[in-house]
Amino acid sequence: MNKSIELKITDINYEGMGIATYNNKTVFVERALKDEVVLAEIDFENKNFYRAHTTKVIQASKDRIIPPCATYEKCGGCQLLHAAYQKTLEYKLKTTNNTLKRIGKVDFEIKEILGMDEVFPYRNKVQIPVTSVDNKLVCGYFERRTHNIIPFKTCLLQSKQVDEIIIFIKNIFNEFKISGYNENSHEGILRHIMIRENKYNQIMIVLVINDNKLKCEEEIKNKIINKYPNVVSIIINSNTNKNNVILGDKSYPLYGKDEIIDELLGLKYKISHYSFFQINRCQAEVLYKKVLEYVGNAENVVDAYCGVGTITLSLSKIAKYVYGIEVVAPAIDNANENKKLNNVENVEFILGKVEDKIFDLLERVNIDCVVIDPPRKGLDAKVIEALKQSKIKRIVYVSCNPSSFARDIDLLKEDYEIKKATLVDMFAYTTGVECVALLERK
Ligand SMILES: C[S@@+](CC[C@H](N)C(=O)[O-])C[C@H]1O[C@@H](n2cnc3c(N)ncnc32)[C@H](O)[C@@H]1O
Repeated sequence: MNKSIELKITDINYEGMGIATYNNKTVFVERALKDEVVLAEIDFENKNFYRAHTTKVIQASKDRIIPPCATYEKCGGCQLLHAAYQKTLEYKLKTTNNTLKRIGKVDFEIKEILGMDEVFPYRNKVQIPVTSVDNKLVCGYFERRTHNIIPFKTCLLQSKQVDEIIIFIKNIFNEFKISGYNENSHEGILRHIMIRENKYNQIMIVLVINDNKLKCEEEIKNKIINKYPNVVSIIINSNTNKNNVILGDKSYPLYGKDEIIDELLGLKYKISHYSFFQINRCQAEVLYKKVLEYVGNAENVVDAYCGVGTITLSLSKIAKYVYGIEVVAPAIDNANENKKLNNVENVEFILGKVEDKIFDLLERVNIDCVVIDPPRKGLDAKVIEALKQSKIKRIVYVSCNPSSFARDIDLLKEDYEIKKATLVDMFAYTTGVECVALLERK
């Protein structure tokens, strides 16, 4: 399309895009801030709106900063890296409140967002896509709105050590002439490099391959552990599927066990490569403290969608008994190990879908509070029904997706109302935000 137009930005949307008007249609503009005048090129048009990207800032907002990243212009990672950090927090509050009003149809305003003291680096887990260009491996993050990989040397979000390890692995694979994956032809071997780094500077590496076995794996393993003795686990994950899901369902350990141990609020957690664990350790502690505050002095609590049991075990310190429910079997195995590791007695972990397990549990035990921390899609209709039919006094809803959160609030609002809510900034300079809300039965 490549048409260049001048736009006055009047607001910003939940995707971090500036909002303007052109030809009586809304334009969503990448890398533009409220009150700016920018030159933009249109990338997409339909009958309702345009999408464009900024090519030149003519009049800059006072909140604009120079993004401290060489690949920012192209990378799809940090959508708000051109704005002052404090301003990004204000945007998140505003857009979440708009979503709550529009989709949740409730008159409740979230006033607080808990930002980070030290922003970079904040990710303890990265998943780097890999491909081959001219018979050489290329790894990096995806370019905005494409699956083109931008080769990178460093990324602010992850530690320098992780940057180095990625490049080291890339060089080893080039040395052994093992190709990167091509998602169009479904050829090539190495699909993703996943790295987890714990509080004690130990590393887990997962090599996701489009095969059942990695050739030269002993040599590859030895090179990695000789150079990085703090690598405690190397897993080969086989993913031969033609889809965008990162991990396949078969794995074997090449070195060490399928676990790394991390720590949150003084408790230790074994985490397998299949298990969910909050990617921002500092802010996870901030979030969990809020959850504990909102749960208050409940007796019997359910931690639905419990992962490796982090909220469950934190709650075991203040509640009489806690029940964790989780669908991923390796995560529940970790949760049971974590119960022992921390000498906790007053919890039970249940393997299964929350929608299948919650009715029985609510019938079996007199539950007074439920913590729900679902994946992005939010709550299943059956879970909403179980909560509505129950006599539970308090729900603490932790959400990483304001839209599904607002939809669920709407579905629950006949029986429950929001009393308190806070945002926690887990993913600085991106549009991602975590919300924790206390709902009470009317
Ligand atoms: C956002 S994570 C929260 C995990 C945990 N509360 C934490 O803070 O680490 C959501 C978890 O829900 C699990 N999950 C997804 N769908 C589920 C379902 N229908 N029933 C039970 N667990 C589910 C995922 O495997 C994941 O561990």
